[in-house]
Amino acid sequence: MSDQERTFVMVKPDGVQRGLVGEVISRLERRGLKLVGAKFMQIDEQLAHEHYAEHEDKPFFEGLVDFITSGPVMAMVWEGQDATRQVRKMMGETDPAESAPGTIRGDYGLDLGRNVIHGSDHEDPGANEREIALFFDDEELVEWERIDETWLYE
Ligand code: RTP
Ligand code: MG
Repeated sequence: MSDQERTFVMVKPDGVQRGLVGEVISRLERRGLKLVGAKFMQIDEQLAHEHYAEHEDKPFFEGLVDFITSGPVMAMVWEGQDATRQVRKMMGETDPAESAPGTIRGDYGLDLGRNVIHGSDHEDPGANEREIALFFDDEELVEWERIDETWLYE
């Protein structure tokens, strides 16, 4: 087992309202990724600003904060080989309209501002660890072995 890492994943308010929490979890689970933390919660203004700090100066920032705080989200930490990049591939492009069928955004979204899922950016080193720490305390993450790990990894 090499390159084991943790990544932050969140079903956004639109995904929760549309009943897609189970679908997202199911896809990540079946891929072989391991759930090590989960929290159903509502994001407040301050956390939204911290989470999306990189977009503070963009014109869509206020709309993005309003949206992400507008209802409950399912915040999660998933672990596996190359997890951050693999989750991003499973998500599709930022804009669902440009996302391939078979990806989460390509299967369940149509609009840029309602793209169902968040995953840490694999092109931003440390983003996964930073986001995990923002949403979870260490003791909220569970270390465990999946029974199929010896068959999942060479
Ligand atoms: P996210 O952080 O939410 O997982 O999405 P992402 O990495 O694929 O995209 P990012 O560039 O980080 O943008 C964050 C969210 O802002 C909205 N957005 N709107 N109007 C626009 O041009 C625009 N660009 C981005 C999207 O909803 C995106 O998920
Ligand atoms: Mg992003």
